[in-house]
Amino acid sequence: RANERESLYLVSEFANSYFQKILHKTDQGKSIGLSYFKERGFTQETIEKFDLGYSLDAWQAFTDEALKQGYNIDYLQKTGLTIVKEDKRFDRFKGRVMFPIKSMSGRVLGFGGRILTNDKKAAKYVNSPESDIYHKSNVLYGIYHAKQGIAKEDNCYLVEGYTDVIQFHQTGVKNVVSSSGTALTSEQIRLINRLTKNITVLFDGDAAGMRASLRGIDLILEQGMNVKVCTFPEGEDPDSFAKQNTLEELTTYLNKNAKDFIQFKAAVLYEESKDDPIKKADTVRDIVNSISKIPDRIKKEIYIQECARIMDISEEVLFSTLAQINKKEF
Ligand code: CTP
Ligand code: MN
Ligand code: MN
Ligand code: MN
Ligand code: MN
Repeated sequence: RANERESLYLVSEFANSYFQKILHKTDQGKSIGLSYFKERGFTQETIEKFDLGYSLDAWQAFTDEALKQGYNIDYLQKTGLTIVKEDKRFDRFKGRVMFPIKSMSGRVLGFGGRILTNDKKAAKYVNSPESDIYHKSNVLYGIYHAKQGIAKEDNCYLVEGYTDVIQFHQTGVKNVVSSSGTALTSEQIRLINRLTKNITVLFDGDAAGMRASLRGIDLILEQGMNVKVCTFPEGEDPDSFAKQNTLEELTTYLNKNAKDFIQFKAAVLYEESKDDPIKKADTVRDIVNSISKIPDRIKKEIYIQECARIMDISEEVLFSTLAQINKKEF
């Protein structure tokens, strides 16, 4: 079993060098992949730092090369790099720019591949499937490059996507990771918890996923960590925002706009529900439910007081709601 995992690592490592070689050394890679990255504002240094690559727009170019180099079809299939259908073999990644996903110690676990067009019918990103070496719920994109920065800054920025991580690095903010499209999990938070107790969640400025994400953040509170959230102007995400700003402007923006999560959630939800008594009751329960996740009793009490003020409701009501929630859980 350990041997097989090692084989999957080796295949993934090979694929990582292969996609980089295609990007930097072939005409198709240079004219399509490399120019795509350059147009997005990534420098040569950044492209190399993150081992970015390109997969040829062909049915089995990668698989053929891997087999020629002696890699076993079994492992190619198990990493999802090759899709086997009856007796036919296809590359999973075709004509996409490639983002290798690495473990804390820098081993390649899987890939994300982005199409270059804005074709709404094709999936924007194709990702490696789960495998014996790639458990999505345990992985954070960028953790290998961020771990020192997170410890040094004693804070971790959590963003939505690959390019957000990369653009932040290029701008000079290095304590940043991404859950890459999957809902945040306790295991991912535990990875960060080993390095810092402080997380700042950065939402894309499209509000779409924000409400859904708010719930996932309770998982951070449960681990006794401090959470702030920061939103970006409409239509911007951390990547596009960082690209337009200097390091100083970016850090100034982040410091100024990062709000305590509980206060933020109370304010957002209150604003949405203040004129509707039934909705407001739900909001109160929702926010007290978040507060109930905080292990520290003193912090809990302080938050209850603050939320009473923000939501214009008595502390007594909030405390009795908290007591009800606790009774249900134990
Ligand atoms: N994602 C995915 N599959 C999709 C869309 C998104 O896996 N079809 C994941 C990717 O990890 C992506 C993240 O969710 O990076 C955030 O999605 P989105 O904000 O749509 O993409 P961006 O990272 O902003 O990518 P880009 O700037 O290239 O459009
Ligand atoms: Mn490299
Ligand atoms: Mn988004
Ligand atoms: Mn985005
Ligand atoms: Mn983006």
